[in-house]
Amino acid sequence: MSTTLPMPKRTIHTQHTYSPWRVSVAPMMDWTDRHCRFFHRLLSQHTLLYTEMVTTGALTHGDVGRHLRFNAQEHPVALQLGGSTPDDLAVAAKLGQDWGYNEINLNCGCPSDRVQRGAFGACLMATPVLVADCVKAMVDVVDVPVTVKHRIGIDTEDSYEFVRDFVGTVANAGCEVFIVHARNAWLQGLSPKQNREVPPLRYELVAKLKQDFPNLTIAINGGITSGEHMHSHLQHVDGVMLGREAYYNPWLLTEWDHEFFGEAPTTLTREEVELAMVDYMEQAAAEDGCPWYAIARHMLGLRHGLRGSRYWRQVWSNHKLKPLPPREVWSMAQAFVGMQAPDQASSSLANVG
Ligand SMILES: Cc1cc2nc3c(=O)[nH]c(=O)nc-3n(C[C@H](O)[C@H](O)[C@H](O)COP(=O)(O)O)c2cc1C
Repeated sequence: MSTTLPMPKRTIHTQHTYSPWRVSVAPMMDWTDRHCRFFHRLLSQHTLLYTEMVTTGALTHGDVGRHLRFNAQEHPVALQLGGSTPDDLAVAAKLGQDWGYNEINLNCGCPSDRVQRGAFGACLMATPVLVADCVKAMVDVVDVPVTVKHRIGIDTEDSYEFVRDFVGTVANAGCEVFIVHARNAWLQGLSPKQNREVPPLRYELVAKLKQDFPNLTIAINGGITSGEHMHSHLQHVDGVMLGREAYYNPWLLTEWDHEFFGEAPTTLTREEVELAMVDYMEQAAAEDGCPWYAIARHMLGLRHGLRGSRYWRQVWSNHKLKPLPPREVWSMAQAFVGMQAPDQASSSLANVG
């Protein structure tokens, strides 16, 4: 269990006061686990981090500790829940608060078949009154903010009024923060991956939500890939959430405390971060036998775009190295940092394997 006290309604004070939702990394199943979040937290102190979606079923019937434990250093961190039964969500939200999460977020944006079979995720947008009941059930039992992540529409329902009425109904139940993935979810015929690429992005609808609900916190998500993009969205909404770009190009996060939270520019180096991750891998192995490669997989983008990054990455993802301690793998990976000549690199890599 997290040893840090929960920080309800946390506001960030540097020179200015910033909304906690100003910049966040999206919930991503199988990606934003606690190891990934630990890594991201090394890169940015203020960015809000989200868990993968945890279903109410996993918490009521499964191993709660496995799903909810996290490292106190991950704060601020939000727990995303998947579910559609108010009573179950209330129990899960309370558990989340007790385990120290700073926020409980309800997933109303996932279009996968599995989630639809459970009648939650994006299909919940068709039943705003049920979502309102879910939100109310959670708000009644926790002090931390209850927030909703959703799409702008489902299937062919693409009118602004649809998403506006959804937000209005759910806000009346006590949700003050909406994170809007600015494209429709198509519940039939598209895979979850296609559902993140095919339906067109319509950022203007999210900006309009902010105009129509000035007292709500509205954060925008979908297809945002640079600091410049983020700044331009922040002219219209309260927050920006990045998913894939943050994962594939995590060094971006090191600019955010300075760019968006008024901190001094970072002096952090990739070498320091990599070494901190090696320490963390050793700790995790000692604590619960967690293998280094379950952690290293999340930092493979650390040298994104730099010379030698491909070879460096190949070392950290080389399954033949699994039996070695992480510090040895680290030392092998160093041989490829900044390496220019692919021939030289690949022959050294052959010796590694
Ligand atoms: C691998 C992967 C898993 C995802 N899992 C979730 C999830 O569990 N809950 C959720 O609300 N969204 C999930 N998403 C969607 C992201 O949170 C985000 O809305 C989407 O990727 C669009 O943002 P982006 O263009 O910045 O990546 C996932 C996305 C990816 C790539």
